[in-house]
Amino acid sequence: MESLVIRGNAFTAQDEYHVQALEDCLVCIDADGWVDRVLSPDDEDYASVLANSRQHHQLRELAAGEYLLPGFIDLHVHAPQWPQAGLALDRPLADWLNVYTFPLEAQFSDQTFARKVYRDFVKTLLAHGTTAAMMFGTIHVDANLVLADECRRQGLRGYVGQVTMDNPDQAPDYYRDHSTAAALAASEQFIQRVQETVDPDRLVTPVITPRFVPSCTDAALAGLGNLAAKYDLPIQSHVSESNWESQYAIDRFGMHDAAVLDHFSLLTSQSVLAHGTQLTTGDMQLLKQRQTAIAHCPISNVYFGNGVLPVHRLLALGNQVGLGSDISGGYTPSLYHNIRQAVKSSRMLTDGVNSQLPAQHRGVADSQITAATAFYLATAGGAEALNLAAGRIAAGCRADLQVVRAHRLWGNETTADVFERLMYQTEAADVKNVYVNGRLVYEN
Ligand code: GUN
Ligand code: FE
Repeated sequence: MESLVIRGNAFTAQDEYHVQALEDCLVCIDADGWVDRVLSPDDEDYASVLANSRQHHQLRELAAGEYLLPGFIDLHVHAPQWPQAGLALDRPLADWLNVYTFPLEAQFSDQTFARKVYRDFVKTLLAHGTTAAMMFGTIHVDANLVLADECRRQGLRGYVGQVTMDNPDQAPDYYRDHSTAAALAASEQFIQRVQETVDPDRLVTPVITPRFVPSCTDAALAGLGNLAAKYDLPIQSHVSESNWESQYAIDRFGMHDAAVLDHFSLLTSQSVLAHGTQLTTGDMQLLKQRQTAIAHCPISNVYFGNGVLPVHRLLALGNQVGLGSDISGGYTPSLYHNIRQAVKSSRMLTDGVNSQLPAQHRGVADSQITAATAFYLATAGGAEALNLAAGRIAAGCRADLQVVRAHRLWGNETTADVFERLMYQTEAADVKNVYVNGRLVYEN
């Protein structure tokens, strides 16, 4: 039995390269927040479902110029870095962490500060059409519980990570787990506290979160691998993000960081690794074998990546890829802006950037992706990375949706034009409604 029917024009990813336009469809949502069917006007039940939902005041009809999209899935974002978004992007990764980011994250020992930041952060993600996010918190259990609470209160599907960083060589005294045992105990405590909290819609999932290889001792990496298996949980970390970070793993372990994570049982079908700009073909094959996903963070990569992730190549190889904002390595919570940057960066990878070289030696041929592929990353790709039935407008998926307004239409656009315009020009002001589990969680 439907509890909500949304009528209008919709776009959903068909596959990695194509978008499906659903014209004047009825998206039928059941009382548990699942899409149970999507009807087109030539469906025999269309008229009766329409009449019935209208009669029972369960119909939401989109106005002209409004479109229904799957909610976006931000596959990699640092919630405590929200106060720093759009600031402090002038240094390479290691300096940026030590000079700006660790001092900011350390402030989350104060729960009042955490509440203030996380309330606004969760609201802002929803306001940009993001319905699920895989998030790093800090090393503070109590602040991470505040983040989980804000997700439940405001209706964001949150994958929340208690960050582990216990390596005294790479983390300052004022912001470090003070022993491996304390770090692992904090992770386990966070998991248990989240799992015992009443959460009828099961919106929050705890995530095992070794910050990245440099931050963690061998014993912590091993312990987190065990915890992930014990509780059957997702894992998030950073991989091959920059020249420095890649070289660090080689110097310490004699292997790439992807192999290090694998050695400690941290590459699973529930793992999501951010960035990967420095991954080798062998690393990509390893991630594919383990069904570990990559969170592409194209804006952040401009500052810290020392390269462009070859998204087209990864998809062709069969790797799982989604899209992340990486606040505050990226300056905006908008996945629309990250969709645009993913396309732009791929074009620059194709052509190359050093015009002093002959054109045929400048770039990496066939690297460009389209807006349709970037949209796939932000929706279905992210959902597949999380093993979540969402990211598409289809029967059997969670009703995690956004209604957006296309305000610059002149009447001569094709359906494909409308899609492209939405990808390139939608801003938060154009996001009208957001639904998670079929529940209206944001209205503008
Ligand atoms: N590597 C380790 N920590 C971080 C972080 O907070 N942001 C980014 N972009 N990379 C990291
Ligand atoms: Fe990050």
